Amino acid sequence: MGRDARPRDHAQRKAVTEGDAIRPAGPADQPAIETLYAAAFPQEDMLPVVRALSELAGVLSLVALRGGGIAGHVAFTPCALRGTAERLALLAPLAVTPALQRRGIGRALVSEGLARLRVAGLRRVLVLGSPAYYGRLGFGTEREVAPPYPLPAAWRDAWQSRELCAGPPLPPGTLIVPPPWQSRALWAP
Ligand SMILES: CC(C)(COP(=O)(O)OP(=O)(O)OC[C@H]1O[C@@H](n2cnc3c(N)ncnc32)[C@H](O)[C@@H]1OP(=O)(O)O)[C@@H](O)C(=O)NCCC(=O)NCCS
Repeated sequence: MGRDARPRDHAQRKAVTEGDAIRPAGPADQPAIETLYAAAFPQEDMLPVVRALSELAGVLSLVALRGGGIAGHVAFTPCALRGTAERLALLAPLAVTPALQRRGIGRALVSEGLARLRVAGLRRVLVLGSPAYYGRLGFGTEREVAPPYPLPAAWRDAWQSRELCAGPPLPPGTLIVPPPWQSRALWAP
């Protein structure tokens, strides 16, 4: 069994990365995106923020398609750094339909988003999430840019970033987020 597992897993990953598309989300995708979040986050009500982001100009919202349906979604919200002209983005939320997790869809969505934001000239992408997951995608602990609200000590390593364009160090400052991310409850356990 061990001998067979690796080629099968490899074949599944190839099917996801080569056969299925990632494209910007449109209004017609919203019901499927909401169904996806209800399934991927059964303990959390993600719909208010998912809906608010779908109505916010400038958000990069991508869907991953599999077999004609939506298998994953990610959003990147443009943000600013207080006192600077730096253009940053917040990665959240990200979800893959439970039956299709661990097949490379989340990684593919994040990579596509980062590539698009790099072309658009954004400097850095921030995320509040599992270091075990985002560390695999090239994110590291963020020390210069503070989150909009202070995080509990246990979450300090969960505040991460990935640099898109090289440049001088950013001055220490606080991330300025648009209204959908201004609720303190989104930044606390
Ligand atoms: C977290 C989530 C988005 C990951 O998507 P995915 O398509 O399953 O992940 P991928 O297959 O692209 O995984 C990429 C890598 O991370 C690893 N990984 C996947 N889920 C992981 C997890 N929960 N913790 C740690 N590592 C994880 C994979 O093994 C893979 O590593 P490898 O390339 O070294 O083998 C998905 O599991 C999900 O929707 N979970 C529920 C919602 C959630 O927690 N969202 C995240 C924060 S907003």
